[in-house]
Amino acid sequence: MAPGELKLSENNVTTNVNDRSQHGMWSSRLFFVLAAVGSAVGLGNIWKFPYMMGEQGGGAFFLIYLFCIALIGFPVMAAEIMIGREGRMSPVNSVLKLARESNRSKNWAFMGWTGVFGGILILSFYAVVAGWIMFYIWRLFSGEFNGADAADVEFKWKTFVGNPWSVFAWFTAFMAVTIFFVARGVNKGLELAIRICMPLLFVLLIVMLVYGLTQGGLMDAVRFMFDFDFSKMKWDTPVAAMGHAFFTLSIGMGAIMAYGAYMPREGSVKSAVGIIVVIDTLVAILAGLALFSIVFALKLDPAVGTSLLFKTAPVAFGNLPLGALFGGLFFLFVGFAAFTSAISLTEPAIAYFVERFNTNRVVVALVIGVATWLLGILSVLSSNVLGEFTLFLNWTFMDFFDKFTTYLVLPIVGLVISIFVGWFVPWERVRKALDLSSTVAWIVWIVCIRFVAPLAILTVFFFTIYVEVILPLLPNQQ
Ligand code: PHE
Repeated sequence: MAPGELKLSENNVTTNVNDRSQHGMWSSRLFFVLAAVGSAVGLGNIWKFPYMMGEQGGGAFFLIYLFCIALIGFPVMAAEIMIGREGRMSPVNSVLKLARESNRSKNWAFMGWTGVFGGILILSFYAVVAGWIMFYIWRLFSGEFNGADAADVEFKWKTFVGNPWSVFAWFTAFMAVTIFFVARGVNKGLELAIRICMPLLFVLLIVMLVYGLTQGGLMDAVRFMFDFDFSKMKWDTPVAAMGHAFFTLSIGMGAIMAYGAYMPREGSVKSAVGIIVVIDTLVAILAGLALFSIVFALKLDPAVGTSLLFKTAPVAFGNLPLGALFGGLFFLFVGFAAFTSAISLTEPAIAYFVERFNTNRVVVALVIGVATWLLGILSVLSSNVLGEFTLFLNWTFMDFFDKFTTYLVLPIVGLVISIFVGWFVPWERVRKALDLSSTVAWIVWIVCIRFVAPLAILTVFFFTIYVEVILPLLPNQQ
């Protein structure tokens, strides 16, 4: 190793020898899985997945998303957890350590850096949406939507997001709570919150689904999601579906890698990945079916975009016995799910800066919190003052942060991760770290990480470039 190539403090070295991270460890392997599920299940499943599918016309998006989860999500998530657990440090330094031990260039750490900034970019708009959710917790509990129809609900939505101050206040409240917990360390508060929230989230999603069933819209929802009609595809459907597979699994920016660094050695990576992916996908499908049942029962437009959740769920709960109670609880648990994801978005950056400056976690959390909060103001204003201000493709700032990270950052980092682990880390080490003793499982995994995942990501990118750039340039095209 060149002198100074990897800035390891004495402390880092000792913690490595002991196979513990300096930032703390999950108290058991179960808590790793719960924390990772907490990171994966969030607004991506309940807010983003339904609205994206609605915008993209349903089935084709859903099918590509499922393919990406299976072919890219599984291997890349396993690779991320493995890098984290081998490195026991922030993503930047874990990648550096693995690159150094594999005699590879330190430039691979670039992917860790992208994660540091990707996390901040994502959190800047994620926390705005989480702020909307916080307000809706209160709104539903207060009974404001009792007996409301779709038009009332829409009106109330527009009035709320049209006022920058209220959106700003709720966004700030969410950021403050997140940074408060992050600063204290993720162990205790986070582990407890996850344990209580996750089962309740499931119960409440099922309540929504049952409501959807009784409204008679479920079959239309099923048809919408499972009708794999590729003629409805838009130019960005494949890249949106692939990007969303990354977003929803929290992969491609180091969140799961950072969590992997705190995973005890005894836990099996492959069963953890299986559980996380299955639960995450199940929650998305349940949320999709529940919301689209309501959409079709009430003859609403599935393609309204980011406001879909806020225009459908309140109508459902507003007309359900005890709807104020259940609706408030539903939004409360969406809020918790968002919270357990938001914390993981900051972890790569926080862990890195704590290591880099050998400083206190509270200071780092505050600095990152303030930076994210300032950036988030652009997203706060995107639904009101700056609503008409679009960058390109009609994207507001919020759309831009969302789409730039989902379409580009996460898949590109995912591509780099799969190439690094597939081709540049000695395979004996990878096999041992993943504990893939069965030859069949090993072959499947290595084929996926070396060929299937990178080729799938590249294919989607090339398809998008082809449709967007090359096709319009060809003669005889309208
Ligand atoms: N997976 C989270 C969700 O679905 C969002 C997230 C993305 C969290 C990337 C961490 C990293 O809401």
